[in-house]
Amino acid sequence: MATGARCIGILTSGGDCPGLNAAIRGVAKPAISDFHVEVIGIEKGFRGLVENHSRVLHQHDITGILSLGGTILGTSREKPHKMPLPNGETVDLTPRAVETYHRLGLDCLVCLGGNGTHKVAYSLMKHGLNIIGLPKTIDNDLAETDTTFGHDSAVSTAAQAIDRLYSTAEAHLRVMVIELMGHKAGWLTLAAGIAGGADIILIPEIPYDMDSICQHLTERRRRGKWFSIVAVAEGARPRSAVAAAPKEDGEKKKDKKKKDRKAKHDDKKGKLEEKKERPFLASTDADTFLDGRASSRVAKAITLRLGMETRVTVLGHLQRGGIPTPFDRILATRFGTHAAEMLAQGVYNQMVALKGAEITSVPLEQVAGKTKLVPLDHALIRAARRVGTNFGD
Ligand code: F6P
Repeated sequence: MATGARCIGILTSGGDCPGLNAAIRGVAKPAISDFHVEVIGIEKGFRGLVENHSRVLHQHDITGILSLGGTILGTSREKPHKMPLPNGETVDLTPRAVETYHRLGLDCLVCLGGNGTHKVAYSLMKHGLNIIGLPKTIDNDLAETDTTFGHDSAVSTAAQAIDRLYSTAEAHLRVMVIELMGHKAGWLTLAAGIAGGADIILIPEIPYDMDSICQHLTERRRRGKWFSIVAVAEGARPRSAVAAAPKEDGEKKKDKKKKDRKAKHDDKKGKLEEKKERPFLASTDADTFLDGRASSRVAKAITLRLGMETRVTVLGHLQRGGIPTPFDRILATRFGTHAAEMLAQGVYNQMVALKGAEITSVPLEQVAGKTKLVPLDHALIRAARRVGTNFGD
């Protein structure tokens, strides 16, 4: 029979989201007081593991944080096997991460994160570390769990934003295009779009056709509705672009990614220099500034084709900020306390998950490297279509 953990590390990695502190509290409170486990907070995600930025967490560190946004541990997107160097290149520092784990005397590393985090956690598991994963992300795109904490809070923020756009859209008879987060999966845009009553919802899983969108808007105008709300996921793409995109093989993709990373680094450097030169951006320049975004593309096409006035709102990081909803606080607490019970029993290398009404856990290898996309026949899509929502298809 496996023995329980005596000392654990806990870190938050990837983009932050509401509910991370509730989950840290959910793990650490029972770990410290019920199971007498020492809890070490690793700061700034996996960077903290590589560089050994850590501190022991005491009861007073984890009280009063249930409803706090962000993460008391800090976070980063850095991965031990791809630590960035000042010249834009990356270096594999996995051995250093493994060394820190052993130097701290950890029996398990609890990783709170999304897809990227679980991929890294799985690779550290293969280097001999004991891991427990907790699923967080506003995108809700982690495999093997019905939902992730952070998602409900983001849906609530985005739905409120759509509510606010409605009144101004109606007052000015405009088409308001709101862009929400989600590069690969459209869960957030779909849920917020339904909750906010968006007339058109565009998600990455359903490539859109401008003809369909324009037809829908024209039909609404015919019925006297001269204003509309379009909710667009940042990864939504027109059908033509999807059809034209060449299929890349694995190696080519890797090469391209490396080149893109380098180009991004150089570009950032260039932009910083350019910024020093550039005068203050007047509001009339906003359109140019937004060019290339999914929302801008859609808005411009609507104006050009139908002559309708459009405005673009990119909600951005507002979706990740603020306090968690009660749903997320409860979910994060359930995930966290479940993880603490697993630690006490010495059950490792699993991700805690929600299946139906039950909290359970699934092997990390079933989660790592997988993205949960919206199935085209999902009940939410069917319900939205029933109330007349157009998906641009
Ligand atoms: O990883 C979740 C996510 O919210 C994505 O939907 C979004 O594209 C991304 O984070 C933005 O991340 P960053 O904070 O690094 O700009």
